[in-house]
This record gives sequence, structure tokens and C-alpha cells, in this order.
Amino acid sequence: MGYAVMLLLVFLCHEVSSISILPHKHQTISLLKFKQSFPIHPSAVTCYCPKPHPKMSSWNTSRDCCSWDGVVCDGITGHVIELDLRCSGLVGTIDSNSSLFQLSHLQRLDLSFNYFSNSHISPEFGKFSSLKHLDLSYSYFSGQIPYEVSHLSKLHSLRLSYNSIRLDPQNFEMLLQNLTQLRELDLTFINISSTIPLNFSSHLTTLGLEYTQLYGLIPESIFHLPNLEKLSLAYNDQLSGHFPKIKWNSSASLITLDLHGVNFSDNLPDYIGYLTSVRYLFLSDCNLRGPIPESISNLTRIEYLDLFNNSLNGTIPSGVFSLPSLTYLNLGSNKFSGQLEDFKANSLISINLRDNQLQGHLPHSIQNQVNLTWLRLSFNNFSGRVDVSLFSNLIQLWHLSLSYNNISLTNDNNVTLPESLVELELATCEVKELEFLRSANQLEYLDLSNNKIEGRIPDWAWSNWNFLMRYLNISHNMLMSVESIPLQSLDTIDLRSNLLQGRT
Ligand SMILES: *[C@@H]1O[C@H](CO)[C@@H](O)[C@H](O)[C@H]1NC(C)=O
Ligand SMILES: *[C@@H]1O[C@H](CO)[C@@H](O)[C@H](O)[C@H]1NC(C)=O
Ligand SMILES: *[C@@H]1O[C@H](CO)[C@@H](O)[C@H](O)[C@H]1NC(C)=O
Ligand SMILES: *[C@@H]1O[C@H](CO)[C@@H](O)[C@H](O)[C@H]1NC(C)=O
Ligand SMILES: *[C@@H]1O[C@H](CO)[C@@H](O)[C@H](O)[C@H]1NC(C)=O
Ligand SMILES: *[C@@H]1O[C@H](CO)[C@@H](O)[C@H](O)[C@H]1NC(C)=O
Ligand SMILES: *[C@@H]1O[C@H](CO)[C@@H](O)[C@H](O)[C@H]1NC(C)=O
Ligand SMILES: *[C@@H]1O[C@H](CO)[C@@H](O)[C@H](O)[C@H]1NC(C)=O
Ligand SMILES: *[C@@H]1O[C@H](CO)[C@@H](O)[C@H](O)[C@H]1NC(C)=O
Ligand SMILES: *[C@@H]1O[C@H](CO)[C@@H](O)[C@H](O)[C@H]1NC(C)=O
Ligand SMILES: *[C@@H]1O[C@H](CO)[C@@H](O)[C@H](O)[C@H]1NC(C)=O
Ligand SMILES: *[C@@H]1O[C@H](CO)[C@@H](O)[C@H](O)[C@H]1NC(C)=O
Repeated sequence: MGYAVMLLLVFLCHEVSSISILPHKHQTISLLKFKQSFPIHPSAVTCYCPKPHPKMSSWNTSRDCCSWDGVVCDGITGHVIELDLRCSGLVGTIDSNSSLFQLSHLQRLDLSFNYFSNSHISPEFGKFSSLKHLDLSYSYFSGQIPYEVSHLSKLHSLRLSYNSIRLDPQNFEMLLQNLTQLRELDLTFINISSTIPLNFSSHLTTLGLEYTQLYGLIPESIFHLPNLEKLSLAYNDQLSGHFPKIKWNSSASLITLDLHGVNFSDNLPDYIGYLTSVRYLFLSDCNLRGPIPESISNLTRIEYLDLFNNSLNGTIPSGVFSLPSLTYLNLGSNKFSGQLEDFKANSLISINLRDNQLQGHLPHSIQNQVNLTWLRLSFNNFSGRVDVSLFSNLIQLWHLSLSYNNISLTNDNNVTLPESLVELELATCEVKELEFLRSANQLEYLDLSNNKIEGRIPDWAWSNWNFLMRYLNISHNMLMSVESIPLQSLDTIDLRSNLLQGRT
């Protein structure tokens, strides 16, 4: 439809329905011109958007623009104050001459999850002087974030994550310095390549700076932002830091702390115990050393505790096993020693203690973790008899690994591992017979190497494994024959060092 025709339609429509207030007419034209600049291809962006909803397809002059999908007007002035076109399947560019920039009263603008074909973020965005919320994330912008974004001094939230854009370090400072009302800043995946400036607004509640190529030392003042609820500096491998040696101002408000990959080369401070609101604590790959402080037992709301791949040592304090809301515990690849305490809470879904120096018996309380899905205990010094009944009631169990300890797997009660198992690693567990695998008919990964399995693999096992098994390792056993190898989905099979004769 030509522009003149469209204008006429708009005009006529407004004459007829007598809602022809001046701002409406201009706004309607601006919005329709904006619509026109995008041929709509919802399918082009479905990889990010679960359900693209082409809101603009309902935009036409049969209704007042203030009632269009995604458009909100001020009740008194009639100005368009909100435009929400998130996940709308927009494909095209937004140039500086776009009619979008005529909507000068916007307070909220959400263009996230569209496909703007690597167009630059126009300096014109800086002219939305009333804007409080701007979301351009996941939308295929490229180039630099323009200096003019710092003009948006009323912004409460700015989300620019997941675009291939850069932010000049000086503009980063300027932005922080000028946007004094900012509560939420999400720059995830934007290339900033600078040190972290000091100019953060004390209103900040959410700061997302993961994958931003930041380097240098984290300024301690970040931990003292008094209202901070979520801080992510993860995946900036040139970043290092020190935990504050005094109580953090933000400790009562922090819910998520993600410092994955930041080099602390430090002990976890006792003050971690003041993070009483924290639910997600991600400190993997942080070069942490020393023990977990006893004060960890203060974190009664914690759900995710991830300390994977550090050099933490000593015994795991008993408080860890009593955290009432803990669902995900990852202490793998550290240097923990000593025995495990009994689990006092039953909320765990994932336990990873792999690759430490833990010893002694496995606690009986594992059998009470009814929601347990992942249990990784390989590469430790656990010892003694471990009975299959410890795991037989864990009906959600998907992954179990006990390899490379000093345990003997027994089956005194003639029970079976749960049917839900998909990955099972039992290398060097003194396994003699396979009866405990009778129910496990969904296995895709099975390591039974270095055990004491004799004779032949039973027929029921081959039929269990027929359709799904991808990796099967029964090397280093005492098998005499292997009859029915042709498993349909097998990638890898290892039969070395058995007593096989004849046909294999
Ligand atoms: C205008 O949009 C409405 C939905 O908002 C739709 O029902 C109607 O068919 C559309 N009219 C035209 C002419 O496209
Ligand atoms: C807007 O500018 C682009 C180039 O920057 C040009 O191709 C386009 O025709 C212009 N659109 C209008 C409506 O002026
Ligand atoms: C920063 O804010 C001040 C006061 O609102 C304003 O005068 C100045 O132009 C702003 N600077 C930038 C770069 O936006
Ligand atoms: C940011 O803060 C630092 C230190 O407080 C100050 O020197 C610098 O001028 C500030 N930057 C801007 C752009 O105001
Ligand atoms: C990030 O930007 C800097 C310069 O601004 C550049 O040297 C570097 O290669 C960029 N990194 C990536 C991953 O794009
Ligand atoms: C935060 O803590 C620091 C250091 O203890 C202190 O100097 C500062 O005044 C505190 N800021 C706020 C806003 O509470
Ligand atoms: C971490 O920091 C320490 C001390 O500053 C340094 O010796 C070490 O090499 C750093 N590690 C990495 C992986 O950068
Ligand atoms: C544990 O939290 C309480 C307040 O809930 C606090 O008084 C105590 O000092 C904290 N302990 C540690 C070691 O952080
Ligand atoms: C463990 O962390 C170090 C950095 O501290 C990193 O270089 C290494 O790749 C990490 N290992 C694993 C298995 O993630
Ligand atoms: C923990 O490691 C430190 C070195 O980082 C060492 O001095 C200390 O003795 C170790 N503690 C235990 C219990 O192994
Ligand atoms: C197990 O998970 C279910 C569903 O998420 C939940 O309702 C239940 O409380 C969990 N059990 C325990 C002991 O946490
Ligand atoms: C173990 O139980 C199965 C049935 O669940 C039974 O067929 C088998 O004979 C039992 N084996 C022993 C040694 O009791």
C-alpha cells in the first residue's frame, strides 16, 4: 500500500470514528510506516523465540492505534508510551530515518528477539528522553553502542545482551555515570574489553556483565552496591578479584552471584555467611583454595552451590549437608578429603563430588534423596561395600558414577538399579554379575571396565541394550564369549582384555 493511500485511510478512518486527536494521527502514521518497513517472517527467528507472535499483523486503521497489539498509550495525553514488539518476527533494519523515532514519548520500548539484520543501533535511540525501559537484546544488532544512549538519563533498565555489538570503554563509563536511575543493566555478550569502572549507580539491582571481555581487578565497591540482587561477571577469563574482607553491603540483598572463571587465588571468606538471601552461588573455575568456611551453613536459601574446579581442601563442613533448600551441589575437581557426613536435607537433584580425595563409606542418607538425578562420585578414595539398594529407590536417577574408588558393589537384597538410568559408570567396582541391571533398559552409556564379570553377558542384557546403547565398555573382565554384538545404536564398544575365544 502506497504511503499516500495509507495516509488517506488513516485520515478517513479517524474522521469516521471521530477519535481524530492530533497525536493519534501522527502516531498512527509513524507506527504504520514502521510496520511497513518490516516484511514479516516469523520463522526466521524461531531459534531464539519459542513462539514468535507477529503483533504488527493486527495493526490496521479499523481500530485506534492505542488498542493495537503491543501498543500502550497514556490515558490522558493519548501519546504512545509503550511499544512491546518482543518476539514479533521482525526482519529488516532500523535506520536513523525510521518513523520509530517519531514516537518521542515512549517510556518503554522492547524490540528484543527480532532480526535486525546487523543494523547499527542508531544514535536516534538517544532522543527518547522519557524512556525508562529499553530492551534490544537478542536482536542481531552490530557495530558500536552509540554515545547518545547515555542521554537516556531516566532509564531504569537497559538490556542490550546477545548482539554482536561493542561498547567503547569511555562510553561504558559515561553510561554508568549518567544513567543514575538504572536498576538493571544487562550487557551480556557485548564486547567491552576494558577494566570495570567505578561509576555504578547505587540503585542497581541487576548487573549482567558475563562474556564481555572485561579484564583487570574487580573493584571491591561492586560488592558493596547496597541493592544488588544479581551480579554476573562470569566468563571473563582475564578478570581477577578479591573478596571483601568486611561485611558486604549487598550481602542481605544478593540472590545470584555468578563469578565463574574469575581468578580469586584466595580463600572463601567467612563473610560468605552473610549472604543470607543467596539462592544461586556460582564460583567454579575461580582458583579458590583453603577450606569451605563453616559459615556456609548460614545460607539457608541456597539452591545452587557450584564450587567446581578449584583447589578447595579440607573436609566438607557438615553444614553443607544440612542446607535445607540445596538442589544442586557441585564440589567436583577440588582437593577435599575426609569422610562425607550424612545428608540432613532430602532436596538434592544433583551431587557432583567427582575428582577429590574423599574417603570412607558412602552415607546411607543418599537413599533418601528421592529427587536425585545426577550422582557423580568417581575418582575419590571411597571404600567398603556399597550395596545396590543404596540407589534402587532413586527413581529419577539419570546418571550414576562410582568409578575409580576402592569400593565393592554388592547386591545383598537382590534389587535392581532404577529404570531411569541413562549413564552408568562402574569401572573398578568389583562387579561380578549383572542381575542389578535387569531393569535399566534405557542405558546409553555403560562403563563396566576393570571388574570381575565372568562367563558371558546374559541375553536379557543384550536385549536391554539393543536400541539405545551408544558407549559400552566391558574391557578388563573375565568374559569367555560375547555372542550378540550387533547393538543398533552403538558408537563405541571396548572388549579388550577378556578371556574371549573364537568368534567376536
Ligand atoms: C484489522 O485488524 C483486525 C484485528 O485487530 C482484524 O480483525 C481485521 O480483519 C483487520 N482488518 C483489515 C482490513 O485488515
Ligand atoms: C532511510 O535511509 C535509508 C538509508 O540510510 C534509505 O535507504 C531509505 O530510503 C530511507 N527511508 C526513508 C523513508 O527515507
Ligand atoms: C549526562 O547527563 C547530564 C545531565 O542529565 C546531561 O547534561 C549530559 O548531556 C549527559 N551526558 C551524556 C553524554 O549523555
Ligand atoms: C567515573 O568515576 C571515576 C572515579 O570516581 C571518575 O574519575 C570518572 O570521572 C567518572 N567517569 C565519568 C564519565 O564521569
Ligand atoms: C573486542 O574488541 C576489541 C577492541 O575493541 C578487539 O580487539 C577484540 O578482538 C574484540 N574481541 C572479540 C571477541 O570480538
Ligand atoms: C557500603 O560499604 C562501604 C564499606 O563498608 C561503605 O564505605 C559505604 O558507605 C557503604 N555504602 C552504602 C550505600 O551503604
Ligand atoms: C591467578 O592469579 C594468580 C595471582 O594473581 C596468578 O599467579 C595466577 O597465574 C592466575 N591464574 C590464572 C589462571 O590466570
Ligand atoms: C550468620 O547469619 C547471622 C544473621 O542471620 C549473622 O548474625 C551471623 O554473624 C552470620 N554468621 C556468619 C559467620 O556469617
Ligand atoms: C579449571 O579451571 C582452570 C582455571 O582456573 C581452567 O584453566 C581449566 O580449564 C578448568 N578445567 C575444567 C575441567 O573446567
Ligand atoms: C589446604 O591447602 C593449603 C595450601 O593452599 C595447605 O596449606 C593446607 O595444609 C591444606 N589443608 C588441608 C587440610 O589439606
Ligand atoms: C521432589 O521434587 C518434587 C517436585 O519438584 C517436590 O515437590 C518435592 O518436594 C521434592 N522432594 C524433596 C524431598 O525435596
Ligand atoms: C533375584 O530376583 C529375581 C527376580 O526379581 C529372581 O528371578 C532371582 O532368582 C533372584 N536371585 C537371587 C539370587 O535370589
